[in-house]
Amino acid sequence: MSAPAGAGVRSAARARIAARTLRTDRWWQTPALTVLGLAAFIVYATVRSFTRSAYWVDEYHYLTPFYSPCVSASCLPGSSHFGVWVGELPRWIPLAFVSLPFLLLFRLTCYYYRKAYYRSFWLSPPACGVAEPHRTYTGETRFPLIVQNSHRYFFYIGFVISLVNTYDAILAFHSPSGFGFGLGNVILVVNVILLWGYTLSCHSCRHVTGGRLKHFSKHPVRYKIWTFVSKINARHMQFAWITLGTLVLTDFYIMLVASGTISDLRFIG
Ligand code: FES
Repeated sequence: MSAPAGAGVRSAARARIAARTLRTDRWWQTPALTVLGLAAFIVYATVRSFTRSAYWVDEYHYLTPFYSPCVSASCLPGSSHFGVWVGELPRWIPLAFVSLPFLLLFRLTCYYYRKAYYRSFWLSPPACGVAEPHRTYTGETRFPLIVQNSHRYFFYIGFVISLVNTYDAILAFHSPSGFGFGLGNVILVVNVILLWGYTLSCHSCRHVTGGRLKHFSKHPVRYKIWTFVSKINARHMQFAWITLGTLVLTDFYIMLVASGTISDLRFIG
């Protein structure tokens, strides 16, 4: 793949350099790892979201985040923490149909993930200082990419879903004799804390909490919140990847316990 003739670095007025890039480092490594990481998560999450097995541990009230909230009559007894809103669902509708599409759109329109997939999947650009394979570029000025501007609404929904996940994690402190505490609780709670880290470090969160203000001196509380959000916002990329990992780990652990493959390490109850 080379830069299109007559465009970009191959324009008539530019210095004549035949190579697509003069970089000698492994600039393709980051986009390649991004494709692998995102593809692996998408395959795992899709398979698990549709299999409808081993997602609820009735003994300890562990519910995997891929099935939360579970609001249909197809859900296992006890797993519907917010009631049953609809009847049986056909196999092609995931049981967490209320949250999964919004979580997907929340991450798809995320500023960090946009950078990641524009580079790695769309090669726009593949890396700094590496010519693009595209002849034209309209950025996010047209449909469908102009819709990325709706990210803040998915942030609001993501915020509510984080509350739902928090509620699930609290309900999971359960055992057949009442209160319970096991390794599953540690995993669920760590996952929820990191999900909050990802959600609150969102660029839209930074904007709505205080970023759009002009005079911080007139808004001391919002200034404090904005300062905190800005601090974690600097780690947004790390939160984005870490939470993909903790989501898979949490689901995987609950799957192992729910299927009886391993038993939960219990501290209390
Ligand atoms: S910018 Fe990444 S979640 Fe909002």
